[in-house]
Amino acid sequence: MEKKVKVLVPATTANLGSGFDCLGMALDLYNSFEFELGIEGFSVQGEGRQQLELDGGRLVYEAWDAAFNFANVPPPTVALHIESKIPLGRGLGSSATAVVAGVCGANILGGLQLATAELISIASVIEGHSDNVAPALLGGLVVSAVWKDEVDYIVLDPADTLQVVVAVPDFELSTERARSVLPDMVSRADAVFNTSRAALFVAAWTQKKWELLGRAMEDRLHQPFRGSLVPGLNQVVEAAMAAGALGSALSGAGPSVVALTAGGHGAVGQVMQQAFAQHGIDCRILVTRSVGQGAHLAI
Ligand code: HSE
Repeated sequence: MEKKVKVLVPATTANLGSGFDCLGMALDLYNSFEFELGIEGFSVQGEGRQQLELDGGRLVYEAWDAAFNFANVPPPTVALHIESKIPLGRGLGSSATAVVAGVCGANILGGLQLATAELISIASVIEGHSDNVAPALLGGLVVSAVWKDEVDYIVLDPADTLQVVVAVPDFELSTERARSVLPDMVSRADAVFNTSRAALFVAAWTQKKWELLGRAMEDRLHQPFRGSLVPGLNQVVEAAMAAGALGSALSGAGPSVVALTAGGHGAVGQVMQQAFAQHGIDCRILVTRSVGQGAHLAI
């Protein structure tokens, strides 16, 4: 059996506006997690090194233990080395990469033979929602629905011809904080507003009707409330749309904002950066794309 393995897991952007807690897309930016059985050790390099060092790989080990416990096998000692490329606490699924790496590493090195659906369920329980872990594990655009501790999912192909422009502010926002401002109850009108648009987004994506994405990404369930935590959110989205983006929304719980483009990504990134700057927020622009490859082994 293998003693050492390196797992690559992609960044993800969840919600895509209307698809709150049920839509997520894998992005072409990967964190790497190397596991070595039978020895202790932990090291990190790259994005957020100091913070990740303090954290000590907590989420990876939690997911590792959870997978072994699920299989009724005692978790063995394992050393972990992380190469981090995804900005932390910015709504790009960095914690989901840790959870997915933990369950995948355990499954491979422990020979646990857990099914993909079981890995997603274990990861989803740890994350508290499935919309980042599902695409992080599977790649593509993933529609997922949680049933108690099981997850149903459908994977759709990535859009090779589109770019994903991400404005990444220079501050962090925890998902816990971003969820704490959401109301417990919503009106029927707002529920219908979102369900119709999330369904339209999936249908438009499937048929490559990109011109529908802008309206399909509109949202009333979370962004109106999160605006108080992300200064300039509405203006950044509006600027991206005015500069020719197909659609734009808060990335996951934020504070990053994504815009989908079919060309002209330079201009879109520039106006997003300017709009954040007008609210006193510095941000960097990443230009990436959706990818079909989820968690996989490094060759
Ligand atoms: N759907 C989750 C939220 C994603 O918006 O809170 C968190 O990354």
